[in-house]
Amino acid sequence: MARVLSGIQPSGQLTLGNYIGAMLNFVKLQHENDCYFMVVDLHAITVPQEPEALLEQTESVAALYLACGIDPKLATVFIQSHVRAHAELGWLLTTMTYMGELERMTQFKDKAMGKDSVGAGLFVYPSLMAADILLYQAGLVPVGDDQRQHLELTRDLAIRMNNRFGELFTVPDGYIPPVGKRVMSLDDASKKMSKSNPNPGSYIALLDSPDVLRKKLSRAVTDSGREVQYHPEEKPEVSNLISIYAACAGVSIEDVVRRFEGQGYGNFKKELADVVVTLLEPIQKKYRDIRESNDLRVILRDGAARASEVADKTLNQLKERMGFLMP
Ligand code: TYM
Repeated sequence: MARVLSGIQPSGQLTLGNYIGAMLNFVKLQHENDCYFMVVDLHAITVPQEPEALLEQTESVAALYLACGIDPKLATVFIQSHVRAHAELGWLLTTMTYMGELERMTQFKDKAMGKDSVGAGLFVYPSLMAADILLYQAGLVPVGDDQRQHLELTRDLAIRMNNRFGELFTVPDGYIPPVGKRVMSLDDASKKMSKSNPNPGSYIALLDSPDVLRKKLSRAVTDSGREVQYHPEEKPEVSNLISIYAACAGVSIEDVVRRFEGQGYGNFKKELADVVVTLLEPIQKKYRDIRESNDLRVILRDGAARASEVADKTLNQLKERMGFLMP
């Protein structure tokens, strides 16, 4: 049994990329591990957020966790800002992170590109993410491929802290799915599917209605060929759609290719839409039920209490070792 931790930002509509790259594995891992899944609101504010939108999205992501199958009896579900230790350890780790390390982060470079002014929080974001993970002594962190570099920095920081202040932190490993670690945009297979893309046609939102889902998938860009074949280099668009099919239907890439042998893209896309609708419709129904009930607030309060216990213990141990006068 491993300690598992991960988080998702409440910074827009969750996409099928979030689901396949992250949530699907959260649900799998919860059965045999000690899991902590949070909504990382402190991370979301590293880019400007409207207060009402932040509030709505935070509740929405928490409800989606449950709707997608995370069981609060098996896993601890909470909001990052409800556990004060995140901000505090984030600061302690910021003082131990080198500017050069943060300057190398590709996610920072992408998000800061072309902006006149960028908040310092966006720059030190990876130190806060390291705090999230190290507070819980997590051994396993299920994420998509785009988080690999942040995880590498987390490992470096854990080792650095252990060398400086004595063995305390578990050095975590990533848990990155072989299929679906990088779900690409429907309009451009060179970009990852992202909730921050200004073109809604580029992503499948988990809460898109069946009509919208079908329309988006029928308009997904393909090449001028006819064969449903998996060649990520030569046929990136179709390969992306095959991966989405495989992940959503719970079958292998080979199964999908075999099934559509000799058939054109039209039929494949139609069946893909059926698979995605069949997956998302019950999630959406459950989501609406959760939003209408009062259970979510209670679950999140319990989750924060459980998480705080673990997090405070680690934080206090570290502070003592660093030479802070303890109350
Ligand atoms: P975020 O909110 O951007 O995304 C949440 C999770 O979804 C995965 N993901 C994808 N996977 C495959 N294909 C895609 N197109 C795709 N888009 C998103 C991400 O890899 C991620 O796993 N920094 C994190 C949040 C975070 C965190 C943490 C994660 C904060 N603290 C501690 C793990 C542990 C982020 O921005 O994820």
